[in-house]
Amino acid sequence: MTATLITGASGGIGEEFARRLARDKRNLVLVARSQDKLESLAAELMDAHGVNVVPLVFDLTKADAAQRLFDETARRTLDIDLLINNAGFGSLGAFTSFDSTRDAEMIDLNVKSLVALTHLYIRPMMTRRSGAIINVASTAAFQPVPFMTTYAATKAFVLSFSEALAEEMRDYNVKVMALCPGTTATNFFAAAKGARPPMRLVETPAQVVATALRGLEAGKSSVVSGWSNFFVSQSSRFFPRTLVTRIAGNVMRSTHGKSAD
Ligand SMILES: NC(=O)c1ccc[n+]([C@@H]2O[C@H](COP(=O)([O-])OP(=O)(O)OC[C@H]3O[C@@H](n4cnc5c(N)ncnc54)[C@H](OP(=O)(O)O)[C@@H]3O)[C@@H](O)[C@H]2O)c1
Repeated sequence: MTATLITGASGGIGEEFARRLARDKRNLVLVARSQDKLESLAAELMDAHGVNVVPLVFDLTKADAAQRLFDETARRTLDIDLLINNAGFGSLGAFTSFDSTRDAEMIDLNVKSLVALTHLYIRPMMTRRSGAIINVASTAAFQPVPFMTTYAATKAFVLSFSEALAEEMRDYNVKVMALCPGTTATNFFAAAKGARPPMRLVETPAQVVATALRGLEAGKSSVVSGWSNFFVSQSSRFFPRTLVTRIAGNVMRSTHGKSAD
């Protein structure tokens, strides 16, 4: 059975991808740590849309999780033709206010697991000469972001990785695209332990997912969701990077006050 695999599908942007793709009659594999949320979403989508939805509980920060997930989908003879590497988290605050374990877990999830899953699922796509991968980056990928220092660096990795791989994959008819949302109304900022989002402009997950699917259809290697976000993301092309970083740092200081220092 052909299916779309979505990591981080228990809430936010990942859940919205699941809802939209189920409406489009795609079978789904939903991955996250929250078993209850995944199972109730799977039951709801199967009931509403008559598609197959497989909930799989994995903590993707674990070193062997990507391989175990791949083995499980292979055991169930699921052919993944669209992989959405969406699971991720951030930290809002001074670099030294978080211990190194939290940063290491962020890198494990946002970077290592994304690369490992891409390695595993892209090979069958290359053999079939069809398939697509959406890697969820962020507008934070385009410039350094003080007080989200490690997070922005992980997303810069995701953007660069995806754009380069998209070019490599042109010969195989496999699409790879980085999705770069700006601030989006999800559980992200609560999970990041930030008081509130640093930017006032907030998109809905539905807007972000619609942008992603349009971008993928158009064959883009990266897409920014929202015009304002697009213009902000391009600022480091027109101004010195040190200036852009200083402004970003001041914005973060003003929204987070002492918690950012
Ligand atoms: N919201 C924003 O403003 C924003 C902006 C730009 C980019 N993004 C990116 O968008 C993606 C989705 O975030 P979101 O905004 O939808 O946040 P969210 O509502 O917090 O969702 C994060 C998802 O990732 C899953 N997850 C977290 N840790 C995991 C782990 N160790 N193993 C497996 N799954 C895990 C969560 O499920 P469980 O807790 O059940 O595991 C949840 O389903 C992330 O990559 C984020 O960096 C978000």
